[in-house]
Amino acid sequence: MDAIEIAGGKPLHGEVKISGSKNATLPQIAASLLAPGTSIFRGVPELADIRTLGRLLVHMGARVDREGGTLRVDASAVAKPEATYELVKTMRASVLVLGPLVTRFGRARVSLPGGCAIGARPIDQHLKGLEALGAKIELSHGYVEAKADRLRGATILFDLPTVTGTENLMMAAALADGRSILENCAREPEVIALAEALNAMGGRIAGAGTSVITIDGVDALRPMDVEVIPDRIEAGTLLMAAMITGGDVLVRGAKADHLDAAIAKLREAGAKITPESDGLRVIAPQKPTAVDFITAPFPGFPTDLQAQLMACLSVAKGASRVVETVFENRFMHVQELSRMGADIAIDGHTAVVRGVTRLSGAPVMATDLRASASLVLAGLRAEGTTTVQRVYHLDRGYEALEAKLQALGANIRRVKA
Ligand code: EPU
Repeated sequence: MDAIEIAGGKPLHGEVKISGSKNATLPQIAASLLAPGTSIFRGVPELADIRTLGRLLVHMGARVDREGGTLRVDASAVAKPEATYELVKTMRASVLVLGPLVTRFGRARVSLPGGCAIGARPIDQHLKGLEALGAKIELSHGYVEAKADRLRGATILFDLPTVTGTENLMMAAALADGRSILENCAREPEVIALAEALNAMGGRIAGAGTSVITIDGVDALRPMDVEVIPDRIEAGTLLMAAMITGGDVLVRGAKADHLDAAIAKLREAGAKITPESDGLRVIAPQKPTAVDFITAPFPGFPTDLQAQLMACLSVAKGASRVVETVFENRFMHVQELSRMGADIAIDGHTAVVRGVTRLSGAPVMATDLRASASLVLAGLRAEGTTTVQRVYHLDRGYEALEAKLQALGANIRRVKA
């Protein structure tokens, strides 16, 4: 198993380009199941999660080819609308095939994802929505079995905004008979990107990016040819990497309107952030100032950047209060940051981070993607050497992170364990 070794203490300088968005690409690839023919995706990041979804589609009978950043999915010969436990357990986002399969093929068998490191993460809202559209859902032997003749439009009110739930229902309703209205939807940029892709396939979707999405079902969709949007979480992570090292970095491809909440908090913590023609430049202070923040669905502060900002605040002047409201168990990085000298106390969903003067390098390990990123950030600031183990978590969602940080002057390398 690979590890990442960092000799900390160097401020980052220069320019870095962010990759295509993992969480925008995954639902768009799932949407290729809605139409026979070959969909084309451009600017696809080279990530383990994308490969997992590709394998899932191949297992169903699709053809998946990749050439550089271009991925082609031919969903003409899909014959087995099934997602097995072996694949779903490694990536929860596999559940995104459920809506497309049941609406195009009238049946689907998809493993229940189960809990994961950051929380229980049920899919009740996905299932409730599909039932409202007329699917018969049965849970047996750990699988969701969904059956339907043609789905029919309905009004669905989500109990809470769910990103993949909104995406799954949007895809299912795209081929349903009549109009569907989804209320209390997630408003993330990835939801908008999926709606745009579905419209490019001939779908009729309005309102994505607001909390009410209206979908007029059509009889058939055609394959899409789409450019993946930039990864706002990778962009935020790199802004925070500059922040924790007191650096000066231009993050090319970062979109300010995708990162409002993160930019506001970094500015409050003392960073100067300026939009440039194709990205955001951050000039970080020597030491951040403490700030309080609370995670929330978009446009609130993203839970996917909570661990990284917390790493920055571990060396801030003063004490910060961090409240995690999206997932119930997303403080796993705290114990590891503490091993590096951070002073963080957790009480339920709240963490109090008292800034320390220095972090010290240590062997650390995390159990999820964003927690691992926060440990890399802490390693960039720490005195001495930090070894982040279980790099496969990082590889799920960051393309060539160590190469990008190296190019910014970090002393970082991948080592074979
Ligand atoms: N929830 C329910 N019932 C449901 C669905 C969700 O109770 O049927 C709860 C969840 O347990 C959670 C909250 O609703 O407490 C929000 O979860 P959401 O469904 O929005 O999360 P998700 O769609 O499973 C996506 C991203 C995550 C990101 C979250 C929140 C993808 C593929 N994944 O997950 O990304 O943290 O939205 O923004 O888009 C990551 O990239 O590291 C990652 C975990």
